[in-house]
Amino acid sequence: MYCKKLLIAFMGLAFFGANAQKRIPQVEQLLEKMTIEEKIGQLNLLTPGGGVATGAVVSENVEAKIKAGEVGGLFGVAGPEKVRVAQELAVNQSRLGIPLLIGSDVIHGYRTVYPIPLGLSSSWDMELVRKAAQMAAKEATADGINWNFSPMVDIARDPRWGRMAEGAGEDPYLGSKIAEAMVKGYQGSDLSAANTMLACVKHFALYGASQAGRDYNTVDMGKIKMFNQYLPPYHAAIDAGAVSVMTSFNDVDGVPATGNKWLLTDLLRDRWGFDGFVVSDYTSLNEMVAHGLGDLQAVSTLALKAGLDMDMVGEGFLTTLKQSLDEGKVTEEDITNACRRVLEAKYISGLFDDPYRYLDTKRPERDILTQEHRELARKLAARSFVLLKNEKGILPIRTNKKIALIGPLAHSRENMLGTWAPTGDLSLAVTILEGLKNVAPNSSIKYTKGANISDDPGFAKRVNVFGPRIAIDERTPEDMLQEAVDVANTSDVIVAVVGEATEMSGESSSRTDISIPESQKKLIRALVETGKPVALVLMSGRPLTIPEEFELPVAILQVWHPGVEAGNAIADVLFGNYNPSGKLTATWPRNVGQIPIYHSVKTTGRPGPKDGTFEKFKTNYLDVPNAPLLPFGYGLSYTTFEYSNLKLNKNEIRQGEGIAAKVTVTNTGNYDGEEVVQLYLRDVVRSITPPRRELKGFHKIPLKKGESKEVTITLAPNDLKFYNSQLEFVSEAGKFEVFVGTNSDAQLSETFTLK
Ligand code: BGC
Repeated sequence: MYCKKLLIAFMGLAFFGANAQKRIPQVEQLLEKMTIEEKIGQLNLLTPGGGVATGAVVSENVEAKIKAGEVGGLFGVAGPEKVRVAQELAVNQSRLGIPLLIGSDVIHGYRTVYPIPLGLSSSWDMELVRKAAQMAAKEATADGINWNFSPMVDIARDPRWGRMAEGAGEDPYLGSKIAEAMVKGYQGSDLSAANTMLACVKHFALYGASQAGRDYNTVDMGKIKMFNQYLPPYHAAIDAGAVSVMTSFNDVDGVPATGNKWLLTDLLRDRWGFDGFVVSDYTSLNEMVAHGLGDLQAVSTLALKAGLDMDMVGEGFLTTLKQSLDEGKVTEEDITNACRRVLEAKYISGLFDDPYRYLDTKRPERDILTQEHRELARKLAARSFVLLKNEKGILPIRTNKKIALIGPLAHSRENMLGTWAPTGDLSLAVTILEGLKNVAPNSSIKYTKGANISDDPGFAKRVNVFGPRIAIDERTPEDMLQEAVDVANTSDVIVAVVGEATEMSGESSSRTDISIPESQKKLIRALVETGKPVALVLMSGRPLTIPEEFELPVAILQVWHPGVEAGNAIADVLFGNYNPSGKLTATWPRNVGQIPIYHSVKTTGRPGPKDGTFEKFKTNYLDVPNAPLLPFGYGLSYTTFEYSNLKLNKNEIRQGEGIAAKVTVTNTGNYDGEEVVQLYLRDVVRSITPPRRELKGFHKIPLKKGESKEVTITLAPNDLKFYNSQLEFVSEAGKFEVFVGTNSDAQLSETFTLK
């Protein structure tokens, strides 16, 4: 029996946070029993394949390796029965019977898939984000998973990068709040509970700054930008208690993150006090060979010495560390330290107490895809949508109208879940056609596809790696278009569902042209030419460039990839059962030439004209204004909100004091609604150039038609701080400007002085 083997009573488990410095006696006793090979085995994370591939390589001889004590964890295995088989191999057939960590990428829901993270972040609703993560944990743990490769908190300011879909956008303040909410949602307050899982914050670090938006590309960034703009969300996740960290594929200051001692030890452990374990990304250890840092033994030594504890799929640790120990390149202590961290995580998650804790075969039926979860997914989706434009109040649509539902994404089940939903079930997704019928069963709805997502078979082939996402129709584009126009002509209103197929964003899905594909642009133009009111429902995993579509007399509802309840949630919003309240968490550029683009830019020494005109010898472009098409924080509602009476509770504060801003917000339109009240701060003079303004607070509030509310947003002393050129976190005396309003261009402002 397992317990006899270990001879250790792991009783009285309590979660004490990843940052606790205490040694765990039971882990220490176990370490004393382990051979060096067994310790190295714990550093090895494998994937046996068979599920949805998340990388190019799968592991071999997994069963034999588990029995030999050569595996610390697995991912890509799910379901209580299957996980039990693996867990029993480890527990009953390896010498010390150490249970396995069972990982998975539960990025936006497990089976109940909710909106892609970029969409979820647009809700600006931290309690909902936490609940979403909690639901994901409940479902994943019911299926035997105890470790989640999420949250992905990489700041991204280049929408060419497809993985922007997986994160919370461009802003470090909002990104930090979301990181915290997700970690708390996954881990709960007791990690040994059967419905919580270990979080793994990724990709550490700076992965979102890949040059030119090309995935896996080089990152080159100075420390000041790193500390002020890119590192805060990782730090927030650690402070929230994240037990593990995943390294990124890119280099940081010339050393790949997976072998970067400054990053993994000096910063993460020594400066931030992280006491959990660090895992590589998929073969990122081995990839250091291609990066140019030596052979597998050399890069494995480098990574272990740098502070990497677990090697995902690469088997560099497994195959070289013993030799490196014999040759004196690493010490037994290096190996023991890494092993200890992995074992501590297992202990914290309760696996030593009961290795089958997450393997109750009754749970999947009871806890997965419940009615309650599907309702939450629908709610989350509706709250992630951003109303970009609503010409002549086209939306909401009255249910007695004759609706022409057109577009390649209108009835495309395979494109509803979005990227990184390997645990979801495409067949369960509700399409927009189905959603409209569910929500308004008596409406007249005529559907036709109208266009292919793209007419280019070569492009379609690249996108269709996980199955047909772009299906090129047998009909000619002209025939499809004509049919669409005919259907449109018989309707009162057109709903056109267009945009990106799911795999047009996500990992290894960078694009240099982020506009709507030409086949669909043609369709949009033809539909507008019918003279009927057109509501565009726009799907994508990133900001798109839509300058032409934005000029058309249409409504545009941005819905990202909404998840399993896509169609129902979209219908809820189109028919006005829910008034959209989402706000962009990444700036939408006018064209690719403006990228990278984000709201907290520096003014420079030669600020361009505010009105967007051109001025020689100023920082601007000859062809487009500096301002984006749509700013960070932007999003409309079916109603309108007015801001007035901005007041600060003090004009002057001292170091260590906070300050509160109060503003009146009034719903001046015809619908009840919700508004995200946003506060931005400009540090007017300081020792390093300040950003134009930075998000430092927000509140999402409901407001009934005609209602006014006073909203107070408080700034804590830390909200005035930044990392100076010595990388000290300081605030400096001087003037500050506070802006409060509906997006990052908020105009109402007040000033105060820090003494
Ligand atoms: C991704 C990670 C993911 C891992 C395991 C990698 O390709 O970059 O985000 O967690 O695969 O699936």
